[in-house]
Amino acid sequence: MFFSKKKKAAEIDLLHLPKHIGVIMDGNGRWAKKRGLPRSAGHSAGAESLKKIVTEANNLGVKYITVYAFSTENWKRPKEEVDFLMNLLLDYLRNAEKTLSGENVVIRAIGSRKELSKEIQEQIVKTEEFTKNNTGIVMNIALNYGGREEITNAARELSKKAVSGEIKPDDINDEMLSEYLYTKNQPDIDLLIRTSGEQRLSNFMLWQVSYAEMWFTDKLWPDFKPADLHKAIADFQNRGRRFGGI
Ligand code: FPP
Repeated sequence: MFFSKKKKAAEIDLLHLPKHIGVIMDGNGRWAKKRGLPRSAGHSAGAESLKKIVTEANNLGVKYITVYAFSTENWKRPKEEVDFLMNLLLDYLRNAEKTLSGENVVIRAIGSRKELSKEIQEQIVKTEEFTKNNTGIVMNIALNYGGREEITNAARELSKKAVSGEIKPDDINDEMLSEYLYTKNQPDIDLLIRTSGEQRLSNFMLWQVSYAEMWFTDKLWPDFKPADLHKAIADFQNRGRRFGGI
């Protein structure tokens, strides 16, 4: 779907965009079921949807987007579905060099890599390297990601430093902890979108969404269009954010 600059400007204040958008892309399975298709078809459609949304967010001028592609809990799904998702991700990372990098997107994978196949691990390094000098939106693909694990890892690293005497336990503050998160040097999420009618965090970016505005829609992820992204951003801009103040 094409949006003229005029329409964008009418709906969204381009000067006050959320800096960092998080997306829980939910509902691929239900989308496929509704059409009598295998769940895998829903995931493929979801991957297409993702390309369009990242491109649109980049065109608008959003600086960071983090998308939940595979959680640490998703390994519990049937092997066939896990294998399909992993292949889709591999393809996505490979193609991203041609498609998303052409759009100037910086691609990063966040999450624990050691459980991923060697092939995916190598492709992540290649794609990150290939896109690292791009100047457009930074896209974090959360892959084998878990929010609790991320915070636990940070606590472990800080404990090691405290034990070695490099830091004092009393000096530990939230800024210091943020340095050990996958999103080091990135702003917190200010707008969190979840599709498919569910209203949960599901272990996604627990630290980074502390002050995020949450935006839920009944639309299933493969049906989520650039117009829906515009609506989420416009709603975000109409909310008064006080960050605990008055
Ligand atoms: C949730 O839908 C979606 C996922 C677990 C995977 C998200 C993956 C994609 C959008 C496509 C692949 C992404 C990349 C980066 C290539 P669900 O399967 O839980 O749907 P359901 O709740 O309707 O069953």
